[in-house]
Amino acid sequence: MHPAPLRRIPAEPEGTDSGQDARTGRPHPHNLLENAIGKNDLGKTDPREKLIVALDVSTVVAAQRIISLLGDSVLTYKVGVQLYTAQGPQLVRDLIASGRRVFLDLKYHDIPNTVASAVNEAAQLGVSMLTVHAAGGGRMLRAAADAAHAINPRLHVLAVTVLTSLDEKDLEKIGVRGTVLDEVLRLSALALAGGCNGVVASAREASHLRAELGVSFDIVTPGVRPIGTGHGDQVRVVTPAEAIVAGASHIVVGRPITEAPDPAAEARAILSQISS
Ligand code: C5P
Repeated sequence: MHPAPLRRIPAEPEGTDSGQDARTGRPHPHNLLENAIGKNDLGKTDPREKLIVALDVSTVVAAQRIISLLGDSVLTYKVGVQLYTAQGPQLVRDLIASGRRVFLDLKYHDIPNTVASAVNEAAQLGVSMLTVHAAGGGRMLRAAADAAHAINPRLHVLAVTVLTSLDEKDLEKIGVRGTVLDEVLRLSALALAGGCNGVVASAREASHLRAELGVSFDIVTPGVRPIGTGHGDQVRVVTPAEAIVAGASHIVVGRPITEAPDPAAEARAILSQISS
C-alpha cells in the first residue's frame, strides 16, 4: 500500500500549491528561499531553528510516523544515506512540499565536477542544507558551494571535517599527523575559504572553531543527548544546552527523539533547553 501523503505542518497556509513548478516539477525559486535555514518569518529566536531531527529509518512509513508524531515541533529533518539509499528523492520532495526543511546529509566526496553536479541536483530538490567532505579539497569545496549558491544563494553547504568515529591513531594510519582538533580547524578554514556556509563538528570542537574562525558560520553538532537518556553508540556526548553554549548553531538529534515513548514531548523538552 502506498503511504498517505505527508500532512502539511500547521504553520503552512492551507491552499497553497505543492511548492513545485508545474512545468519542470522542481521547486519554485521563492520556495527555495523560504526554505533556507534561519531566514524565515519565524525569526532567529525560535528554538526550532536550531533543532534538526535525524530520520535514520529505512521506510517512508517509518519516516512518516515520526514526522506526524512530531507535528509542528520540528521544522527540519536530516535525511542521510540510509533513508536516501532506501527511498530515493521522492521523500525529500514530499517533505519540502509539506512545509518542512530538509538537511540532505549524503556527505559528497568525489572529483569537483561530479560533486558540483550532485549538489546541483540536490539544490533543485529544494533542500535547505547539505553536506560535503572537507577532505575532498579546496577545489571540490568551491565547486560544491558555487553549484549550490547558483541555484539557491541561501542553501547551506556544510563541510564534514573529521568524523567523530575517528581518533588520532586512525588519522595517523591514513597519513594525517597532529591532533584531531588541529585537523578540524585546518579543514574548517579550508571549507570556509571555499565558500561553504559551515561545518559539521562535535560540540567539543565548537568553542575552538568559534574562537579561531569567528561567529558567522554554521556549526552543526551531532552526538547530543538530553539529560537522562541513553547514549546509544555515541561516545562523546553533550546535552543540547551545552552544545549551544559551546557555539553550535544547530544540534542534530536522532534516537533520543525518534525512539522516545512520546517524541513530541521529548522534542519540546529539548526546545525549552535551547531557548534563549
Ligand atoms: O541517533 P543519534 O542522535 O545518535 O543520531 C545522530 C545523527 O547524526 C545520525 O544521523 C548520525 O549519522 C549523525 N552523525 C553523527 N556523528 C557525526 C556525523 C553525523 O552522529 N560525526
